[in-house]
Amino acid sequence: MTAVTARAHTNIALVKYWGKADTKLMLPQTSSLSLTLDQFYTDTTVNFVSDLTADEVVLNGQRLTPTASQKVRHVLDLVRQQSDETRFARVSSTNHVPTAAGLASSASAFAALAGAASRSAGLNLSRTDLSRLARRGSGSATRSIFGGFVEWQAGIDDATSLAVPFQEQVDWPIAMVALVLDPRHKKVSSTQGMQSSVTTSPYYPAWKTVVADDLAAIKPAILAQDFTTTGEILEANAMRMHALTLSANPPFSYFNGESLAAMQTVRDLRASGVSCYYTLDAGPNVKVFCQEADLPAVTTRLAAQFGADQVIVAHPGPGIAFL
Ligand code: PMV
Repeated sequence: MTAVTARAHTNIALVKYWGKADTKLMLPQTSSLSLTLDQFYTDTTVNFVSDLTADEVVLNGQRLTPTASQKVRHVLDLVRQQSDETRFARVSSTNHVPTAAGLASSASAFAALAGAASRSAGLNLSRTDLSRLARRGSGSATRSIFGGFVEWQAGIDDATSLAVPFQEQVDWPIAMVALVLDPRHKKVSSTQGMQSSVTTSPYYPAWKTVVADDLAAIKPAILAQDFTTTGEILEANAMRMHALTLSANPPFSYFNGESLAAMQTVRDLRASGVSCYYTLDAGPNVKVFCQEADLPAVTTRLAAQFGADQVIVAHPGPGIAFL
């Protein structure tokens, strides 16, 4: 049993996961569908060693406190339960993602952790089982095990809640432009935000119907490379997710003023004939879905308004890899 390093990429949900059905097993209220991105990833090395009296977790060169590393230690505990490994682990992780900026660094982080920890403990899990293990750290990590378009099937228990590749090799000239408006740590964690939405938004029951309808409609649109339909669905789905935060009690929002301005810019671009659509997660950053041919128009406009450094172009990315 040796040190193992895994790399996993983050993903952006086109049909969002927003609500847990079981907080302990991390079972979602609904299925979801995402696109794995090439630009944002996490490298994680795990080594189970004899000289530690507790798990040691270093993120971007900084040692995490026991509280901050709780979810990581939970995944390590699950790996120890499933394997013959009993020792504590040294974990070192480097995020090539603005941490907790709503660019879903938890997705790439827990996918990489699941891969590195399980292999280091001598387990040789299938990618399906890796997705189930990653899920226990962070829901969105379930999908980051696979590349391209990925579905997280909600399932009904630990065995059936897992990711399935929908289309791993994406032969479609599309891009996702990330507009980083605030790289700081988000104020309302996704766990808190979801829980509040599930328990207090009167619109939550309608969200489940929205997701079922959107999944049924977006899959054929992706297969047909129907950009307009895919874009319309992902934009409406994101806004309906955020409607759950605005309709919670007390109400909250992940948007800031610049997020609203960026959404208007995307609508302006569209009105001027540049086809593009926006989506937002649990943070103020805006991601813009566009076609490769329209990238210059989209990035030039966003850079002029928000600064070139804030604009990062991403494309479909790969699944987990061992380095
Ligand atoms: O699993 P978490 O805590 O990273 O939550 C992800 C929530 C969203 O990013 C907003 C939606 C999604 O499906 O990724």
